[in-house]
Amino acid sequence: MDNSILTLQSPLDMHLHLREQEMLQLVAPLSARSFAAAVIMPNLLQPVDSLAAVTSYHKAIVNACGAELFTPYMTLFFRDYSKDELMSAREAVLGVKLYPAGITTQSEAGVRDFDAIGTTVALLEELDIPLLVHGESNGFVMDRETEFLQVYEWLANNFPKLRLVMEHISTAAALRFLERHPQVAATVTLHHLMLSLDDVAGGLLQPHLFCKPIAKTPQDRDALRQAVFQGHPQLMFGSDSAPHPRHAKECCGCAAGIFSAPVALPMLAQLFEEADCLDTLPIFVTENAVRFYKIEPPAKNVYLGRQKWCVPELYGMVRPFLAGNELRWNLLDVETTD
Ligand code: DOR
Ligand code: ZN
Repeated sequence: MDNSILTLQSPLDMHLHLREQEMLQLVAPLSARSFAAAVIMPNLLQPVDSLAAVTSYHKAIVNACGAELFTPYMTLFFRDYSKDELMSAREAVLGVKLYPAGITTQSEAGVRDFDAIGTTVALLEELDIPLLVHGESNGFVMDRETEFLQVYEWLANNFPKLRLVMEHISTAAALRFLERHPQVAATVTLHHLMLSLDDVAGGLLQPHLFCKPIAKTPQDRDALRQAVFQGHPQLMFGSDSAPHPRHAKECCGCAAGIFSAPVALPMLAQLFEEADCLDTLPIFVTENAVRFYKIEPPAKNVYLGRQKWCVPELYGMVRPFLAGNELRWNLLDVETTD
């Protein structure tokens, strides 16, 4: 095929916020168009922490996606669960997502006492249900991820068969942790491959680049880039695309979250191409996740072409990542291959 066309087979977004109601209607079709499947985060106003909530949220997502072939892999919000609860929810979810209480958007119901999570974590290990973790302490904002590594260390050492995912890693220290723990996986966002703290707060404050974990140093960003470009086997793409209405971003008390879903694949193609690493992009956006999660996503070819386009200033009430920028790759077509 023409080398100006890039075919991605079943690209996956392993960390996605779709929200509810009008926001869900607005953003779900954008991810459903360009990805074969995505892992859906459970931090709704009312956390998704029961099988009934998973089932009804799944239904709302499928409705919002219309005719697109797209699998939403659901997650449960971490709390103390009984074995019966986990066994009955198991078929309906890909994993359980743990938030430290209050660490980010709609996480108040998260964990306050890490000494008390062992019983539920042991059940997840026993039932082979992945545990997805927002790994930040409540310390100094630039040190939060590194400080949380001691919790990851405890999880990895005490639950060696647990399928543990470090979500949206933002530091070189997290990569060093992965080297010591080859059974652990991590997601990496597009924005953590592109930004450092300087982009957020080094000049005029950029609320649309404010997210948790906050973008770190240029050295951290470059270490993440190097790892994904080399096809690091433990790293999966997870956009952490997290839409907030413009009024919640451009205000005093700006919400954390970057809405990157509409630009994710074209911009990834551009970054990988610039590094002369387009051949490792499928490892990052499909293969590692398929292997780690043991999933069979729908067969869907996504065709990207070298075609310039300008990222819209707004999608409805949400300002996307890279708004107003010209991108070199565009989504040309999708094809179901089953
Ligand atoms: O920036 C973020 N926004 N980080 C998260 O962990 C959550 C997300 C959201 O839900 O808005
Ligand atoms: Zn998230």
